[in-house]
Amino acid sequence: MTDRLLAAHLTDIHYPVPSSFRLKDLLTKRVTGAANLLFSSRRSFRPHLLKSLLHHLREIGVSHLLITGDLVNLAYAEEYLRLRTHLEESGFAPGQVSMVPGNHDTYLPACVEQETFWENLGPYAWAAGPGDYPVSRFVGPLEIIGVSTALPTALGMAYGEVGEDQLRRLEELLSRRSGRFRVVLIHHPPYPGADTWHDGLVDGARLRRLFWKHGADLILHGHEHNDAETRIDGPCGSSIPVLGTGCAILDDPRPALRARARLLRFGPGGLERQWLIVHDPASGHWRAPSGTSIPESPAGV
Ligand SMILES: [Fe+2]
Ligand SMILES: [Fe+2]
Repeated sequence: MTDRLLAAHLTDIHYPVPSSFRLKDLLTKRVTGAANLLFSSRRSFRPHLLKSLLHHLREIGVSHLLITGDLVNLAYAEEYLRLRTHLEESGFAPGQVSMVPGNHDTYLPACVEQETFWENLGPYAWAAGPGDYPVSRFVGPLEIIGVSTALPTALGMAYGEVGEDQLRRLEELLSRRSGRFRVVLIHHPPYPGADTWHDGLVDGARLRRLFWKHGADLILHGHEHNDAETRIDGPCGSSIPVLGTGCAILDDPRPALRARARLLRFGPGGLERQWLIVHDPASGHWRAPSGTSIPESPAGV
């Protein structure tokens, strides 16, 4: 087992395929999502940025991708197939990608019934279906734990839920301490202020109780479309870092929202360093925001 690893947190890719919209979906929630895609020209999700980002991450020695949901916009098979092609062409193997779904990945009840996310991402989905969570795997010094909060919601709603069964299995998993650095992937943010009834985690308090009781070393989330660094209570007066990252391929002129990923360097002591890289529209390069100090060698090995 190697005790060093450079990973990247990517989230809320919202991979767009506007032509995938079907007329039969005119009376579903998909119509508003499609309208946003078609009429929002100032800030759009751009596939070419995903290709560029994955290429850059490979070049700097990232060996594992941590993806926290909302991979696509409307949960059509075509969106997932195109996203999967990007992953395959990038050279990241399924064993180098850990992901959980977000609310956009279960946009309609039919997406869950047909298991669209899991069917079309194949081995990249990590889990075989919506009932498989939590999932866990060992990667280098890490135990990566995936929790799903994704469920279909009504128009205007984007809340998530871990659910009774998953909470029970997660408690079993967290109580078996692997001795590795435990990184939890979850789409909806698990901190108290994010528990809104229409957009947050409806059973967030129960989830936090599990972390307070059994601990975890790092929690990565998406959904907010913003960078966020906070902490929640862990066992015996400790606290657990919770990191959120903005959208991975958003072509937005505002520097705080522009396409980004968070790099995480792990070593024998756990998380040694983490920093953001942001797409620079002028040069086309991915770089740390000005004023950030980064290691000379990103891989650090
Ligand atoms: Fe999102
Ligand atoms: Fe979301």
